[in-house]
Amino acid sequence: MAINKDFFRGKNVLITGGAGFIGSSLCIELVKMGSKVTVIDALLPLYGGNLFNLEEVMDKIKFIEGDIRDKELVNNLVKGQDLIFDLAAQVSYIDSRDLPFLDFDINGLGHMNVLEAARLYASNATYIFSSSRLVYGKLLTNPVNEEHPTKPLSLYAIHKLLVERYCEYYFKTFGLKTMVVRLPNPYGVRQQMKHNKYSLVGWFLRQAMEGGTITIFGDGKQARDYLYIDDIVEGFLLLAEKGRGGEVYNMGSKEKMTFVEMVDAVLKEVKSGKKEHIPWPEHYEKNETGDYFADTTKIKKHLGWEAKTDLRTGIRKMVDYYKENRGLYSLSDDSSNELAIRDYTNKKYYYLSEVDKERLIKRSLKKLKVGSGTADYVKEIIGSLKDKKILDAGSGLGIVSLGFAKKEANVTGIEEDKILVSLAQYIAQANKLKINFIYSGLTSMPFPANTFDVVISIDVLNRISNCQAYLGEITRVLKSGGIAIASFPTVAGKILYNREINVGETKSYSIHSLNKELKNMSSKHGRLILNQNVLSKNSGIKRVMKKALSIIGLPHTALLPQAVLTLIKK
Ligand SMILES: NC(=O)c1ccc[n+]([C@@H]2O[C@H](COP(=O)([O-])OP(=O)(O)OC[C@H]3O[C@@H](n4cnc5c(N)ncnc54)[C@H](O)[C@@H]3O)[C@@H](O)[C@H]2O)c1
Repeated sequence: MAINKDFFRGKNVLITGGAGFIGSSLCIELVKMGSKVTVIDALLPLYGGNLFNLEEVMDKIKFIEGDIRDKELVNNLVKGQDLIFDLAAQVSYIDSRDLPFLDFDINGLGHMNVLEAARLYASNATYIFSSSRLVYGKLLTNPVNEEHPTKPLSLYAIHKLLVERYCEYYFKTFGLKTMVVRLPNPYGVRQQMKHNKYSLVGWFLRQAMEGGTITIFGDGKQARDYLYIDDIVEGFLLLAEKGRGGEVYNMGSKEKMTFVEMVDAVLKEVKSGKKEHIPWPEHYEKNETGDYFADTTKIKKHLGWEAKTDLRTGIRKMVDYYKENRGLYSLSDDSSNELAIRDYTNKKYYYLSEVDKERLIKRSLKKLKVGSGTADYVKEIIGSLKDKKILDAGSGLGIVSLGFAKKEANVTGIEEDKILVSLAQYIAQANKLKINFIYSGLTSMPFPANTFDVVISIDVLNRISNCQAYLGEITRVLKSGGIAIASFPTVAGKILYNREINVGETKSYSIHSLNKELKNMSSKHGRLILNQNVLSKNSGIKRVMKKALSIIGLPHTALLPQAVLTLIKK
């Protein structure tokens, strides 16, 4: 069924969770058709929000990094919208068990905010909510139509059902044109592949591409409905144009596939990796619904929609996409740190409101990625890290320390902020790693001279007030022949110098003068290289960094505006 582009031209559209897999794909199509799109996304690290997803349309949309739990913000954004696609979510049914309040806050109250705002400020808008097949629970019949009883097995699904009821209520009571889509197993390009808590096709693809082993719980014979992103986007667009208010629609594919067949298709297309069957973990099994296959008669009748993409074609498209872009979707493979931060904050600050707690959590989460690739970088330089004595100076949340401890190094972290020290200890415990975190000033460290093989200093040089004393301490506690690595941020072709390391404030460089300056700094301080693990969003910076990296002779897979000074003690 062709989309009526005229219908979308000039329409004001709000997409919540629009930096995620489905939201961004929808956004790109809407922009192509001339809609005026606003995206709100909280970019919470556990989920699939990724600014790279929106790169091609970023200059044509209004992007707000914000949370649907922020009522005032939502009220402002909803005003004047014609279409609202409410896709933001805590997406993992597994995590909804451990994070019940987070799930309720986002997946319940968050949507209430959007619906209330629509009632008050955009009462003529069409509101579309993305629900899940999981609202059905254990299945009595297959294929499953919309009338099948709903007995959800997880808090995630209970809250999805709750919002379905809100939708019905807002339609019946206030005449707001609400619609609900129950999605089965979506897959496709722009899907996160950070962890295995939802969107398994993406996760498996990553395992296979990295030559790993895909684990299948039980025999994997359960039938599933895998739905490719292009079909989902088309369905959402048709709904916006032709869907009926107050209705619930199943989407589903035409192919019946077992879980194992999906895994086989991934392995076949990727041409590397293998599979292994393991017993069901207890709490996963409790959520298992058995075979699922959607009856899509209603959506076909009302909208003329049916899925077109078969699983092999869809997976082939994903393989092509992730061959190019995989690094941008799997920066973090471990969500346990975020869970530890949430847990710690909830326990320690139980007396704060949910909103204030979330603010604290967000501040901590921002620090999570900083320096996470450092252990790999040091390993490249000095070989095995086993039993090496490492000092993480200015250890913050301890993320750098964690990286070293995982590689069996003997790690000490030292930090001036007491709260960060206890949070780092908590995270290390959650990861079952032994790290000694010490609360102390950085310009007078409680260690004898010549103690450490490696000293790491991530983003301290640019914020410490007495740099000379700090660098002096680093050199003192370092063994001779030991190596110190200090990184500091560079922004948009500018290197941020601390006045005490170098004269002058922030400097701007052309490509030519930046290269000259890098060489100059290398000869003064030891080996200077540009690290590479966080993506720069700005193509101008990318060009500069690429050029600089090629001059120093380093590869560039993903680039970060970060300078790293490497010093070897004589
Ligand atoms: N992927 C699946 O397996 C699946 C299955 C059925 C239904 N769904 C539903 O489809 C929708 C889109 O999911 P997706 O697959 O694109 O996942 P995704 O993780 O890629 O996208 C979800 C987006 O919501 C954002 N978000 C989370 N909390 C937010 C908040 N409080 N405020 C603003 N933004 C927030 C995230 O940052 C992310 O960008 C969700 O409602 C999800 O529950 C997904």
